[in-house]
Amino acid sequence: MAFKINDSIAYTGKIDWELRKFHGSQLSTHRGSSYNSFLIRDEKTVLIDSVWTPHTAEFIRELKKIIDLNEIDYIVSTHAEPDHSGALPHLMAAIPDTPVYCTKNGVKSLQGYYHKDWNFQPVKTGETLNLGSKELIFVEAPMLHWPDTMMAFLTGDNILFSSDVFGQHIASEYMYNDLENEFEVYSEAMNYYANIVAPFSKKALSKIDEFDKMNLPLEMIFPAHGILWRNNPREIVDKYLEWANGYKENQVTIVYETMYNSTRKLAEAIAAGIKDSDSDVKIKLFNAAKTDTSDLVTEVFRSKAMLAGSPNLNGGILNNMAALLEELAGMSLTGKKAGAFGSYGWSPANIKHLNSGLENAGFELTGKGVKTTWAPDEKALGLAYDFGKEFAEAVK
Ligand code: FEO
Repeated sequence: MAFKINDSIAYTGKIDWELRKFHGSQLSTHRGSSYNSFLIRDEKTVLIDSVWTPHTAEFIRELKKIIDLNEIDYIVSTHAEPDHSGALPHLMAAIPDTPVYCTKNGVKSLQGYYHKDWNFQPVKTGETLNLGSKELIFVEAPMLHWPDTMMAFLTGDNILFSSDVFGQHIASEYMYNDLENEFEVYSEAMNYYANIVAPFSKKALSKIDEFDKMNLPLEMIFPAHGILWRNNPREIVDKYLEWANGYKENQVTIVYETMYNSTRKLAEAIAAGIKDSDSDVKIKLFNAAKTDTSDLVTEVFRSKAMLAGSPNLNGGILNNMAALLEELAGMSLTGKKAGAFGSYGWSPANIKHLNSGLENAGFELTGKGVKTTWAPDEKALGLAYDFGKEFAEAVK
């Protein structure tokens, strides 16, 4: 569904209200998403990005309602991931000679996906595309979050087309930040940051610094997913600076998995110990088997410390905890503390496994953890409570 943004820019993307899983089944998108694409008309006409492959037919059909495809002079591909480039093969079949502006790595990725030798025009930071009265200034943004990623700044309207950066997975009728619920928008922006951008926080900091030094008169930021930052775009930029800079709230997140509630009882006793030692800290408990993994990643991202619990299973830990630790290992977390706990029958290998998983994910361990055999009795629950008190002191 195309809609007018102003007299020279149309939204040509797809608002996907149904989407609940993304990156295969890896990432949850509770509020849907959108694949943002834009048509800019000046003396020359340029299309910025397209949509995810399954929406190709609708994208082309809707685009044809507002322009003869042969009137598109240029295509800009800010990112080759198929959620933004998926419709290009069909579009390029219709207008095969149209120049495609992207980074050098963008050429590699687009060729890797589609095996076509389109009229690629690789660009670097600072290079421009003249549209007539306005121009696009390209800004490479490698590893935010792919090697090919770039942004483009439109002079005149002073809009930064930021690709995945500053995105959120939200389907919205309104598509503008000033018309949407602020809490929902920032919650989803943080989910997006924690799950997609966080491993590249250093790149985010240096790219924002580089962009600021370009002294461009930024008025709006249009990311490739979710609502458009039409009002006060600096606010999301400042949020990124905060999130990228060792972000942590006064929160301890306790994530556990349990077979017969023994490890759950330990989790609750630990939480009581933390609370009695520090009444200000926010404590959240989650059963990893009953909680969405993307949400857990966000909760851990925002926490100053994490406690991970699992009973022993065949010399290891239960699979949802194992999957979470594996995911956290890719996040390049820094400055967060952690501890392990769990019950076992005859081998406490679970604690060793949890500790090594936490260390591998970049946490600083506060101790060896706490464990109990079989179901915890009052004495074991007391040990867990004391462990909670000590943990609260260690992470204050
Ligand atoms: Fe939204 Fe990295 O693609």
